[in-house]
Amino acid sequence: MDKATRLHYLEAMGIDVWIPRTSMPLPEAAAESVDAEGPAIEAEPSAPATETDDWNLLQAEVSACRKCGLCETRKQTVFGSGNKQADWLLIGEAPGQSEDQQGQPFVGSAGQLLTEMLRAIGLTREEVFIANILKCRPPGNRDPKADEIAACHDYLQRQRALIQPRIILAIGRIAAQTLLNTDAPLSRLRGKVHNLEGTPVVVIYHPAYLLRSLIDKRKAWMDLQLAIKTYKEFKG
Ligand code: URA
Ligand code: SF4
Repeated sequence: MDKATRLHYLEAMGIDVWIPRTSMPLPEAAAESVDAEGPAIEAEPSAPATETDDWNLLQAEVSACRKCGLCETRKQTVFGSGNKQADWLLIGEAPGQSEDQQGQPFVGSAGQLLTEMLRAIGLTREEVFIANILKCRPPGNRDPKADEIAACHDYLQRQRALIQPRIILAIGRIAAQTLLNTDAPLSRLRGKVHNLEGTPVVVIYHPAYLLRSLIDKRKAWMDLQLAIKTYKEFKG
């Protein structure tokens, strides 16, 4: 199923269509808007070599980034890890202490629970891609600030454009609100399928929250079930 068809289905099913926070068009969206005369011109995926170049460039840019104040306090940037061609893109909030030390996302106790949550739906960390809204740790794990999110957002947009996932899991309130450009509380965002430029987005509880709360485990499981169901429906 191509992106336009998926978008059409999402709209037909009455699923919310969200406008992303930044207006930078994705390369594919730009290609689709070209008014081609004569035989239909297919938007060719870029050659693998170019994609690797783009990916390496992006990774190098992030590791040298000084676009916001977090560059002063981070030990190292956390670009993200996993399969660059993953169907599943998981997006968390920001690195914590362990991530800042190791340079990898979700490696602390919340990360271990996330690994288990993935396992519960038959996925390994190697087959998904895991990234964060912010690539650098906010001191003391405070919430990201709006200017930090704005400064960092382009990197995630580019990761998303290169990976072209079939489903996005927004992990926790900050990731969900940022991706869906809304102030709605998590309780209103989870439990349904959102649409980010043709890619379905399912919001799940943050594992750090689940570790602190005993009450929501059943709802957390329902979120994962919704994710799997959505993936199967939109896999094409
Ligand atoms: N919490 C997050 O949101 N991301 C991480 O990488 C680790 C903990
Ligand atoms: Fe750059 Fe993002 Fe790190 Fe800020 S959080 S310094 S924008 S990589």
